[in-house]
Amino acid sequence: MGTTQVRRNRDADWDAWPVADYLAENYRRLHPCDIGVIHHHASVHRRYAPGSLARTLELGAGPNLYPLMLAGAASRRIDALEPSVANLRYLRRQLDRGPDDSWQPFYALCRSLDPALPESCTEALRPVRVVPGTVDDLVPGTYDLASMNFVAESVTEDIDEFTRFCDVFVRVVRPGGRLLAAFMERMPSYRIGAGPVWPACPVDEAALRAVFTPRTTGLRIARVVKDLTLPEYGDTGIPLLTAERPTGPTRPVTTSTAAPRHG
Ligand SMILES: C[S@@+](CC[C@H](N)C(=O)[O-])C[C@H]1O[C@@H](n2cnc3c(N)ncnc32)[C@H](O)[C@@H]1O
Repeated sequence: MGTTQVRRNRDADWDAWPVADYLAENYRRLHPCDIGVIHHHASVHRRYAPGSLARTLELGAGPNLYPLMLAGAASRRIDALEPSVANLRYLRRQLDRGPDDSWQPFYALCRSLDPALPESCTEALRPVRVVPGTVDDLVPGTYDLASMNFVAESVTEDIDEFTRFCDVFVRVVRPGGRLLAAFMERMPSYRIGAGPVWPACPVDEAALRAVFTPRTTGLRIARVVKDLTLPEYGDTGIPLLTAERPTGPTRPVTTSTAAPRHG
């Protein structure tokens, strides 16, 4: 009997991410799950006065513009960190030439929930800088707020690597800095369109608590129900996380504090 190889982050060709198919499946129209994620994230962003955050991060931004829009009122500089050449090309074109019309309903919703956002989406995206790089390039303590949507669990099959991603995500904000994240719940490795299989590791709320409880304070996990208008990715919904990096000392955690495998 052969053993199944666990695919790690470096085993996938992220430069070949199928931007057009991914947008078509997920972001060409506002899906019910997007409405849920935007409501959750907007309720965090609007707690901050306009321009009060010097620097924020979108980790693994991909071609998704709505997390960047949401940061546009509070943040003076938004770093959209992304390794994939295909996603970087799409992001740069959106910022240089203005966002595709299909993003307008997303922006209308973001602005209705955070009136501090400017009238135009282009204006809201002005603080965004596209930063080529991976999670390994991040320097601890750099940001006031870090956001990560569908990344740590959607880029590796290795639960220890998932934990390490989350650990870097927590430490990249300054002590007291805010964390905001969305995850695909219990999603196994997945396809976009008819393309290759991308590595994922199924996580649920218990797995997220196992990783984030020892590393953060004020952990809250909400949930959006499974969106049946999306292709069948094998997920069971979307846990939504907010927490802070502790200001005081925490008990030491290592990546061996891995979440149990679920799903
Ligand atoms: C499922 S997509 C999510 C994209 C986007 N955040 C969204 O909300 O749709 C996973 C993203 O993680 C990026 N990624 C893969 N490996 C990464 C790494 N080592 N560091 C940072 N981002 C990575 C991919 O290029 C891709 O954009």
